[in-house]
Amino acid sequence: MKRALVIGGFRSYHIKLKERGYIIDIIKEKHKIKSDDSNLYNLIIGINEKDYLNRNFIENISSFLDKNNYDLIYNYSEKGQEFTAVLCKILNFPYHSFSTVKAVNNKFVMREKMCGTEYDNIEYKLLHCKNDILSLSKTCDWILKPLNSWGSTDILKYSPRNFKISDLDNLKFPILAEEFINGQEYSVEAFVHKNNIEILSITKKFIDKITFVEIGHTVRESLDIETMHKIEGFLRVVFNRLGIESGITHTEFKLVNDKIFLIETHIRMGGDNISEAISLATGVNVDDLIIDESIDKQLPNFCPQKNIPVSIWFALPKKVGYLKKAEFKCSKTANILDEDILISSGTFLPKLHSSFERVAVVLATGTNREDSLDNARKRVKELVTTIEKK
Ligand SMILES: Nc1ncnc2c1ncn2[C@@H]1O[C@H](COP(=O)(O)OP(=O)(O)O)[C@@H](O)[C@H]1O
Ligand SMILES: [Mg+2]
Repeated sequence: MKRALVIGGFRSYHIKLKERGYIIDIIKEKHKIKSDDSNLYNLIIGINEKDYLNRNFIENISSFLDKNNYDLIYNYSEKGQEFTAVLCKILNFPYHSFSTVKAVNNKFVMREKMCGTEYDNIEYKLLHCKNDILSLSKTCDWILKPLNSWGSTDILKYSPRNFKISDLDNLKFPILAEEFINGQEYSVEAFVHKNNIEILSITKKFIDKITFVEIGHTVRESLDIETMHKIEGFLRVVFNRLGIESGITHTEFKLVNDKIFLIETHIRMGGDNISEAISLATGVNVDDLIIDESIDKQLPNFCPQKNIPVSIWFALPKKVGYLKKAEFKCSKTANILDEDILISSGTFLPKLHSSFERVAVVLATGTNREDSLDNARKRVKELVTTIEKK
C-alpha cells in the first residue's frame, strides 16, 4: 500500500489518489473537516488557519510525522502552499520552494521578481493608505487589488479623472496599484518540468466590466503559431523568474497588439470548471494528468483525442438578498454539456464583489467556439432565481 500526505483542500483529487491505491493522511483547517472525511482519509490533522504560516508549528508537526511513512506529500489547492513548501523542505520531499510560493501568492513580490524582463512592462505601486492614491500618475487608469486574494475579490478600477476618495473606504491596505492594461484577457494552463512546457489550453476570458469577476471562458482558443510561441516564451520567463520548476500552472495575461502583459500566475490548476472544459474539449481527463504529475514528477503525456469547442458561462446574482430558489426553467439540450447551481438556497448574496457569489455555471458546445459561447450564454438566461430581502 502506498501512503500520501495531502495538505489543504481539493477533495476530488484526493478521491483520485485513493482510487490509485493510496492511503491518505490530511492536514486541513479544523473548521473544514466534514463528517464523512473519515471515509476518505486515514488520519485527519485539523489545524487553525493561522498555523499554516507558523514555522514553529510546522517544525513540530514535521517531527511528529514519520517521513518514511509517505510516498507522496502534496498540496493540490491554493491554501497552505507556504506550509507545504516548508514541510516538504524539512522532510525532503519535492515541492515548490518557499520563495516560489511567496512570489505566486503575493502580487507585489511577483511584480518585483519580473523586474528587468520584457514583461516588466507596466507601472505598479504598493499603497499603504488611502492618501497614497494621490501619488499615482493621473495620465492612466489603475487597477487596485489585494496582494494575496483570489477569485477576483475586491478588485477596483481607479480612473483619476472620475473618482472620489470615499470609493476606497472598503479597501484593506496595503493594496497593489497596477497600471490598467486594456486588452483581451486569457489564461493558460500548462505543465512545466525541467524547462519543458506542455500547454493544455489558452483560454479566452470574459469578465464583468465593473467588478472584474469572471463571467465566461472559451477553452483551447486557436491562436496563430507565432502567438503560441510568444506565449510559450513568456511562460518560460515567468517560470524562470519565479522559480516554478515543475507541476501544473495557471497564468493570466492580456494580449495587446501581440504584446503580452502578465496579470498573475499560480502553481495550481485554474478554477471556474476550466479543467472540466478542457477535458470535454480534448477527451483527456486533465485531473488524471495532474495526479500523474504529482506522483511521477514528470511531464504528463497530453494527447488530445478530439477538438470540440467548449465554453463556460456564469450566472451573476441579479440583486442583493437571500437566494430562495435557483432553477433552469426548461430541460437542457444536447449542446449543454454540464450545468450546476453554485449557491445553496438560503445563502445571502451581497453586492457582487468576488467570483464566489456567482449563482450557476453552464458548459456548452456548439458548431464553433463562438457558437459554444452563445449556447452557454443562452442557457444561463434560462435560469430563474428568486432572491428576497429576508
Ligand atoms: N493590471 C491590470 N490591468 C487590467 N486589468 C487587471 C489588471 N490586474 C487585474 N486585472 C483584472 O482583475 C481581475 C482579477 O485580478 P487578478 O490579479 O487576477 O486577481 P485574482 O487573484 O483575484 O484573480 C483580472 O482577471 C483582470 O480582469
Ligand atoms: Mg485572477
